[in-house]
Amino acid sequence: MRIMYKEDPFNLLTTCNDNMNDNLKGKIVLITGCSGGIGRASARALAKLGCTIAVHHSSSSSKQTADTLVDEVTELGVRAKAFEADLSTYAATDNLYNQVISELGHPDILFSNHGATGKVIGPNGNIEDISVEMFEDIWRVNAGTHFRLAQLCAPHMEKQGWGRLIFTSSVAAKLTKWDTTGTGGVIGPHYASSKSALHGLVHWLSLRYCKHGVTANAISPALIEGMAVYTEMLSFMLMGIPDTAMMANPSPEARSKIPVGRLGKPDEIASIVVLCATNGYMTNKVIAADGGWTSGAM
Ligand SMILES: NC(=O)c1ccc[n+]([C@@H]2O[C@H](COP(=O)([O-])OP(=O)(O)OC[C@H]3O[C@@H](n4cnc5c(N)ncnc54)[C@H](OP(=O)(O)O)[C@@H]3O)[C@@H](O)[C@H]2O)c1
Repeated sequence: MRIMYKEDPFNLLTTCNDNMNDNLKGKIVLITGCSGGIGRASARALAKLGCTIAVHHSSSSSKQTADTLVDEVTELGVRAKAFEADLSTYAATDNLYNQVISELGHPDILFSNHGATGKVIGPNGNIEDISVEMFEDIWRVNAGTHFRLAQLCAPHMEKQGWGRLIFTSSVAAKLTKWDTTGTGGVIGPHYASSKSALHGLVHWLSLRYCKHGVTANAISPALIEGMAVYTEMLSFMLMGIPDTAMMANPSPEARSKIPVGRLGKPDEIASIVVLCATNGYMTNKVIAADGGWTSGAM
C-alpha cells in the first residue's frame, strides 16, 4: 500500500514496502568537487541508482580524473558530463550552473562538496598567521560559492516540489567535544569557521524549503582515507607538522587514534549522501561520520 502525501507530487515519500532508491532514477545531480575522493564515490553511488551526474572539477589538472569518472558512470547506463570551474569566484559558480542546466538540465540534487584548506597552521598555530585575504579566499570557496549554488538551485527545486541540498562540512566545525585536539579542528580558524557557516546555511534552507519537498543537510566527515585534507589533519594531530609522505600509508598507531581503529572510506560518506538524497523526512541535520571520534548529536 502506498500512502500519498499532498507535498509529494513525485511519490518520493513512500511506505516501507516501496523501494525508495528507485525514485532517484533520472534525477539530475550536480556534484562539486567530484574529482576528489568523496565526490567520486558519491557519483558512483548515485549513478548506480540511475541519476544523471554533472561531474564538476576545478582545473585542467583534474580533467583526466573527471573524464575517467564520466566514462565509468556512463557505462552504468546513465548520462554524465564533466564541467570545469574554479569555484573561488561567484562568476565561475554562475557559469558552472548555467552550463549544467544548458547541457543536462536543472539539478534536482545539489551535492555541494568542493573544499580547500588554504594555509594549515594547526590547533596550536597563531591566528595572525592567517591573513584576512586567506580568510576571505577560503570562506568564498568553502562557504560563499556553496551559498551561491544553493541560491541558484533552490528556486527550481521549490517550483517542482522536490529537491535535495547536501553539503560537505567537517568535524572541524562540529559543535561537540574533541578528546585530544579541541573544538575547531586541526587546519586553522579560516577552514573551521568556513565549514561552520554551512551549518547555519543548512538550518535556514531547511526551514524555508522543507514544506516544498526540498531537504537540506550537511555531512561532517573526519579523516577519510587517501586524501589531502585528511593527511594534513592527521599529521598535525600526531606531530604538529604536516607529513604527507608518512600519512600516504598511515601506521596502525595513526589508525588507532580513531575509536573504530581505522580511517573512513569515501564510500562510507557516499552512503550518507545516498541517505540524504533518498530520505524525504530527514532534514536540517549535520551528520558526523568520524569513526566515533566525536560524541553527542547526529
Ligand atoms: N578528506 C577528509 O578527511 C575530509 C575531512 C573533512 C571534510 N572534508 C571535506 O570533504 C570535501 C571533499 O573533499 P575530499 O575529502 O574528497 O578531498 P579531495 O580529494 O582533496 O577533494 C577536494 C575537491 O574539492 C575541489 N576543489 C578544491 N578547491 C577548489 C576550487 N577552488 N574550486 C573548485 N573545486 C575545488 C577539488 O577539485 P580538483 O580535484 O579539481 O582540484 C576536489 O574535487 C571537502 O569539502 C573537504 O573539506 C574532507
